[in-house]
Amino acid sequence: MPGRHPLIITEVMSAVTLVGEMNILVIGSGGREHALVWKIAQSPRVKKIFCAPGNGGIADIAECVDIKADDVPALLKFAQTNHIDLTVVGPEVPLVLGLVDVFAQAGLKAFGPAKAAARLEGSKAFAKEFMIRHNIPTAAYGSFDDIAQATAFLDKFRVPSDARCSAGKGDTASMDGWRQFPLVVKADGLAAGKGVVICQTKAEALDALKSIMADRVFKDAGKRVVIEEFLKGEEASILAVADGNNFIILESSQDHKRIFDNDQGPNTGGMGAYSPAPVVTPALMKQISETVIKPSIEGMRKDGTPFKGILYAGIMVTAQGPKVLEFNTRFGDPETQAVLPRLKSDIVEMMLASVEGRLDGLQLEWDPRSCVCVVLAAGGYPGDYVGGKIIRGLKDVAPGNGVVFHAGTKKQGDQILTAGGRVLGVVALGAGIAQAIEQAYKVVSALSFEGMQYRRDIGRKALER
Ligand code: AMP
Ligand code: GLY
Repeated sequence: MPGRHPLIITEVMSAVTLVGEMNILVIGSGGREHALVWKIAQSPRVKKIFCAPGNGGIADIAECVDIKADDVPALLKFAQTNHIDLTVVGPEVPLVLGLVDVFAQAGLKAFGPAKAAARLEGSKAFAKEFMIRHNIPTAAYGSFDDIAQATAFLDKFRVPSDARCSAGKGDTASMDGWRQFPLVVKADGLAAGKGVVICQTKAEALDALKSIMADRVFKDAGKRVVIEEFLKGEEASILAVADGNNFIILESSQDHKRIFDNDQGPNTGGMGAYSPAPVVTPALMKQISETVIKPSIEGMRKDGTPFKGILYAGIMVTAQGPKVLEFNTRFGDPETQAVLPRLKSDIVEMMLASVEGRLDGLQLEWDPRSCVCVVLAAGGYPGDYVGGKIIRGLKDVAPGNGVVFHAGTKKQGDQILTAGGRVLGVVALGAGIAQAIEQAYKVVSALSFEGMQYRRDIGRKALER
């Protein structure tokens, strides 16, 4: 049967992979994907790395392919034609579109959750219902697909019985928090990290509802909203790799969401990160493992949608303990740039173990040093910005001093130009957090482009601890 041919070839290719001849396709174009390609390139199992679509820095270590990250049919065709043994999905959109399912049906391995499991990120209402069902601590909330009902809910949000409660019946601590502004309005679907509005007043909440639900600024992601209790505390990012049954938690990290120092100004995709995050003490990590990660992996399995790939729990460390702000179903950006340089183990082996359901036999080894990533962004970001600025100093960064991961860059002849909001991620390791910070900023000082902006306080919270 001619139709069987590609499958047979794929199986033969998979057998070849066992002797270190794997072709890997990484999907995405940001700093996270540069860090993934960089780490994958260190694996002795790899023969060739492709990246779709990639960026100016990735082009140095992988063959960049001009296919968009959400063009699943074109990605499948490319993977089949080029005998890709493992596809690694960076961003959330292809996961939510079901790339992993489509590849699996074609007999191809892809690292990440299937469509049904990616709903943990694809729908905030789904994630909240899941957490309530499995008793996973999170903020109290209501969810609405009708703007009149959402507005009415705002009117009487002080009535405790209107809020569904995170930690089960009668959690009055959670209810009390819910009764006062600020509160948080979230678009249900994917909104490129911009769909969360913290509202200090009812007028702001009404504005948020109007722009999300009526004006549809995030398109169909705003068909539904979650209105949520505001949680106070320090944030941490906990990433676990799972194979449907088993999981391993990676080293902790912390993002810096706001554009300006001291967490001022609007939210961004992330202006820097460090790992480990000292706010996550060993005791807290154990608690997060037992109250968040374990019930999540078990819950997905029980619900018939086993979770494979990276489960990223955005945690708020509150006075009442850790609570989930959100789930992502992929590596974080820029957390990945700060975590992967500390991973000593072969990431390809980790990913294959996840896809093949054999994580129970795996142990990950970590570099005990601290790692810091400082993001250099275009002037105007997270608002409008202009691309095409020449980046200077890249060639002067000595390999021993740090790694510069590219995000929004493109190659033009011999030059690297800016081509996005977040442009570069400067990463350095140090014996402690202070040394890693000092080293990262030393590298930053050698780099420049017109309009370049960055935070001067990446890692300061860790230093203060
Ligand atoms: P998300 O896009 O869901 O990661 O949310 C973006 C950011 O909004 C988070 O990293 C938090 O800083 C903030 N945030 C989201 N939900 C809440 C909440 N319930 N309480 C306080 N801050 C929140
Ligand atoms: N750093 C936040 C995210 O990756 O969504």
